[in-house]
Amino acid sequence: MDTQQVVPFPRLPVALALALGLLLNPLTPAQAAKAAKKQPAPLELSQPAHAGPWSRYADWTQVSWKDYNTLANLASPPYAPPPKLDGPISGDPKKGEKLAYDRGRGGSCLACHALGPTTQSMPGAVGPDLSTYSQWGRDDQWIFNYIYDPRSVNPESVMPPWGTHKVFTVEEIKDLVAFLKTLNGEPKIYSNPLENPATRPLPKEDRDNLDPFVNSAMDGVERAKALWNKVGPTGKSCQSCHADPAKAFKTWATGMPRYEPRLKKVVGVQEFITRHARATTGDEWPMQTPENMDMGIYLHHLATGSKFNVDTQSKEAKAAIARGNELFKRKIGQLNFACLDCHDPSRGANKWIRGQYLGELKGQVDHFPLWRTSRSEIWDIRKRLQWCNVAVRANELPPDAPQYDDLELALTAMSKGMTLSAPGIRH
Ligand code: HEC
Ligand code: HEC
Ligand code: HEC
Repeated sequence: MDTQQVVPFPRLPVALALALGLLLNPLTPAQAAKAAKKQPAPLELSQPAHAGPWSRYADWTQVSWKDYNTLANLASPPYAPPPKLDGPISGDPKKGEKLAYDRGRGGSCLACHALGPTTQSMPGAVGPDLSTYSQWGRDDQWIFNYIYDPRSVNPESVMPPWGTHKVFTVEEIKDLVAFLKTLNGEPKIYSNPLENPATRPLPKEDRDNLDPFVNSAMDGVERAKALWNKVGPTGKSCQSCHADPAKAFKTWATGMPRYEPRLKKVVGVQEFITRHARATTGDEWPMQTPENMDMGIYLHHLATGSKFNVDTQSKEAKAAIARGNELFKRKIGQLNFACLDCHDPSRGANKWIRGQYLGELKGQVDHFPLWRTSRSEIWDIRKRLQWCNVAVRANELPPDAPQYDDLELALTAMSKGMTLSAPGIRH
């Protein structure tokens, strides 16, 4: 029974809509009693949902890129035309070759380009193979400009503005130009099909994510069941008020994230857990703590097999999705990437960026939280978004930041109708 489905005009004031609903489709007394008892879940509303003040995970790089855009603020140096060369390029091709493969420099050119016979291990293919570059008929200033700041030539470029954003100096860019000019058509001979981005097999995830012997995050389900019965500081446990969670929350997670009027923002499962526990059991389970993650896994796991059904129609949801869609386009960080640069099929998606195959944004939230085998960690969607920020040298936001709320809702809206299966498992 769902009173909401019989309400014909979702924007009418609740009381009026409910009255109309009752007139059109009278409830049985038992249903009416249940509907009357339904109250909003108690939430703590004043504190941040993360353990404050937010600081980055200790095992991630601690570099701060405070001079560059984040999802929350605009800071990057404005575009300025590249400097004029005072004559033909005088760079050192040997130095340029080394720089092109230097992983410490924003992933280097190798992340997206093959560069002739000396191409090093695992080149990506987001950009064209430059092995024939000396024959492309580009003049020195043009090549210099494209590397210094590709926006000078191509405003739609996905390449970082290496010079404007100070990843390489003017002298180093001259060295890179000199190196590119030596690429005379001799291709890289790959000794192994795994090395060649054209023949590298696509990653396939076909492990059984619900098998606890395969997916360590399934242990979180068992730990959460124990937490469910644990009495908190108020003398209550989750069990005190929710005796049959498997029944009560069988589809709940598929409706998340959703707009929460009391917070005037979108709230995801993990933030809900923090605020609801504070208000009921008195437990302090901030986002990204083990208890919060385990409970998030459990509540998602209960909805496994159900289809995503987030609100995309209310005024607030529409506004949040619109904001999320704008954020997908925002260039951030020292490397100046937007989500769409890596995850849109017209740009990086379905291509290799170095050894990683970039997926499209649609259908990417159905398996969160997940177990990352390469890191032996549980990641919720917020940690993934934080990683996708830090990867482009942009400072991440706290996990309950409204920008992540909007991105998560926009991502989940794309996955509407897809089936949830959690915890997932990924490399
Ligand atoms: C994130 C991927 C990426 C990285 C990293 C990258 N490129 Fe590119 N590059 C591209 C793409 C894509 C294009 C073509 C279209 C565009 O600009 O979006 C391109 C184009 C170019 C061109 C212009 C080719 C032409 O049309 O004349 C040059 C030169 C170039 N890259 C050099 C470099 C150098 C040097 C580096 C390392 C300092 C580098 N790229 C790193 C993605 C990348
Ligand atoms: C003191 C009673 C109480 C306790 C303790 C309690 N809850 Fe709730 N919970 C509620 C009420 C009231 C609601 C709103 C009505 C409903 O959905 O049943 C709710 C709703 C929920 C919902 C659905 C949320 C929504 O808004 O649709 C979830 C999920 C939930 N609780 C999980 C938990 C978890 C996890 C715990 C343990 C940390 C917990 N609850 C502890 C009273 C409680
Ligand atoms: C420099 C490239 C890059 C940028 C920019 C980037 N990502 Fe990612 N993202 C990746 C890589 C690499 C992965 C892991 C491989 C994959 O699944 O695509 C990934 C994975 C993801 C996943 C999880 C996919 C899964 O199956 O588990 C989501 C969701 C995601 N990104 C969203 C975003 C959003 C939203 C943004 C913008 C805030 C963003 N990404 C920006 C490179 C990027």
